[in-house]
Amino acid sequence: MAFPIHRPRRLRTTDALRKMVRETTLSPDDLIYPLFVTFGKGVKKKISSMPGCFQMSVDNIVKESEKAYKLGIPAIILFGIPEHKDSRASEAYSPKGVVQQAIKAIKNKVPELIIITDVCLCEYTDHGHCGIIKKGKILNDPTLELLAKEALSHAKAGADIVGPSDMMDGRVAAIRNVLDSSGYEEIPIISYAAKYSSAFYGPFREAAESTPSFGDRRSYQMDPANRREAMKEVTLDIDEGADIVMVKPALSYMDIISDVKESFDLPVAAYNVSGEYSMVKAAAKAGWIDETKVMMEILMSFKRAGADMILTYHAMDAAEELNK
Ligand code: PBG
Repeated sequence: MAFPIHRPRRLRTTDALRKMVRETTLSPDDLIYPLFVTFGKGVKKKISSMPGCFQMSVDNIVKESEKAYKLGIPAIILFGIPEHKDSRASEAYSPKGVVQQAIKAIKNKVPELIIITDVCLCEYTDHGHCGIIKKGKILNDPTLELLAKEALSHAKAGADIVGPSDMMDGRVAAIRNVLDSSGYEEIPIISYAAKYSSAFYGPFREAAESTPSFGDRRSYQMDPANRREAMKEVTLDIDEGADIVMVKPALSYMDIISDVKESFDLPVAAYNVSGEYSMVKAAAKAGWIDETKVMMEILMSFKRAGADMILTYHAMDAAEELNK
């Protein structure tokens, strides 16, 4: 196996040859497009920390969803920014909540587009944490009930898949139970299984207005230093009934994506989070990188690491590029 018998460059000489031996491919089918739904009408408000992303009211979300579907993107994931926040996240499970309204309106216009919902309380609580609080502590078990209610209300509104992102223990089972006992046994769960407590979520918190008013999320999200613990989290979620497991963030957690893919037979999703997106945007704006090339390289790398699907704010740009 040595030079000059072996010359890897032989297979790199033309575009056709490079294509023939390419190990990984990327297609619009792989993409899931995150959208932020807010109350009101005709709203399309720029998110300054995430250039190209907007908070949109239901009417505009429907338009954006149609565009995404036309570009060949099979799925969106919805995040809600409610009109009122309170300690029990009431609008998270209100039948009239922004996400519930958006689901119905999108289903009306683009029924084939897969609607995933983010199931979490942080966008709906007045303190910005992902669970119920007592004496400064985020309570696990009382939160489960609210998450289950939220997931059920999304399913009732017509969501195709629900995605718990809160990192409370036992949430997948709690959601599975309530869905099954309410006639929604066919609704899959995509669980944010290995979700790390990451500074890469910074821009998202402006987008979703969900910055915790005190402390941080380290008592429920994972420690970025831990690799084996991801296996434990994923195992638990699968045991509780998860259908797809997610690793989040993605860019500096490629080892986790790869481990999860190797160890489990379920589809693996990677979340290319807000900070990863904004860094590319900022560097491109400064003229330091070629935005399209870097974006495509990053997305391809997630596939190479083992992701079967990618949640990304680049979805529209990437789909356009792939359709060229
Ligand atoms: C809600 C949630 C967050 C993200 C997705 N769902 C924020 C957080 O956990 O603080 C982050 C997404 C991103 O940064 O793009 N819990």
